[in-house]
Amino acid sequence: MAQTHFGYQHVDEAQKAQRVRSVFDSVAGRYDLMNDVLSMGLHRAWKAYTVAVAAVQPGWKVLDIAGGTGDLARAFSRSVGPRGQVVLSDINESMLRVGRDRLLDEGSVIPTVVCDAERLPFASAGFDLVSVAFGLRNMTHKEAALAEMCRVLRPGGRLLVLEFSQPAAPLQKPYDWYSFKLMPLLGKWIAKDEDSYRYLAESIRMHPDQAALKSMMRHSGYGHVDVHNLAGGIVALHVGIKC
Ligand SMILES: C[S@@+](CC[C@H](N)C(=O)[O-])C[C@H]1O[C@@H](n2cnc3c(N)ncnc32)[C@H](O)[C@@H]1O
Repeated sequence: MAQTHFGYQHVDEAQKAQRVRSVFDSVAGRYDLMNDVLSMGLHRAWKAYTVAVAAVQPGWKVLDIAGGTGDLARAFSRSVGPRGQVVLSDINESMLRVGRDRLLDEGSVIPTVVCDAERLPFASAGFDLVSVAFGLRNMTHKEAALAEMCRVLRPGGRLLVLEFSQPAAPLQKPYDWYSFKLMPLLGKWIAKDEDSYRYLAESIRMHPDQAALKSMMRHSGYGHVDVHNLAGGIVALHVGIKC
């Protein structure tokens, strides 16, 4: 059986999706609160920037992959108008349920689909825009997922990948201290789950940096890829165009 990584551990490929699932089953109820605490609210700015770059137009069909509790889908749904559509998808039902309930409480009905990004149950070339925020890092076969996202985009459509990345050198030491010492402790105190937040820190370190992800996207079918560094590279937005 082929091996892959789950944070710093080596696991069978077949085990990774299950381990990732149990992380998000465990954190789903406190996910939004933890996002605000751990990023000191910055995830809202990173997502707002992504929404601004997306420049979603009325009538567009938009797919948010690994959409979890629905922050991006919710923002996109304000722009597509009555002729457009946003689909919120994720492999994890617990995360989607929190997102769907929150949207319903706000009066929004957005179709939600449980699916694996590596095997999307959508026709080819059906979406104008695909987004994936803080989700790609958790996928076992990232190139397969990126190729699937390319398949469901129309020619000229864009993929937006918002993900943790490689910070600038002066930030690395304080960022390591924060991620390996403070983050698991905050996870323990607030979400009663230290291990999931240690996995978060490790999975960020194992994720391809800006240049590696750009090249992975080029190999997965995107003719042009732009990289926008945010917060000194702690996070990067990769924008790929299906040409
Ligand atoms: C850190 S959360 C991000 C949620 C949301 N996009 C956000 O930015 O707040 C990562 C999400 O990726 C989802 N995920 C992990 N592997 C996946 C896969 N293979 N296909 C689809 N979703 C996946 C998880 O279930 C989880 O909801």
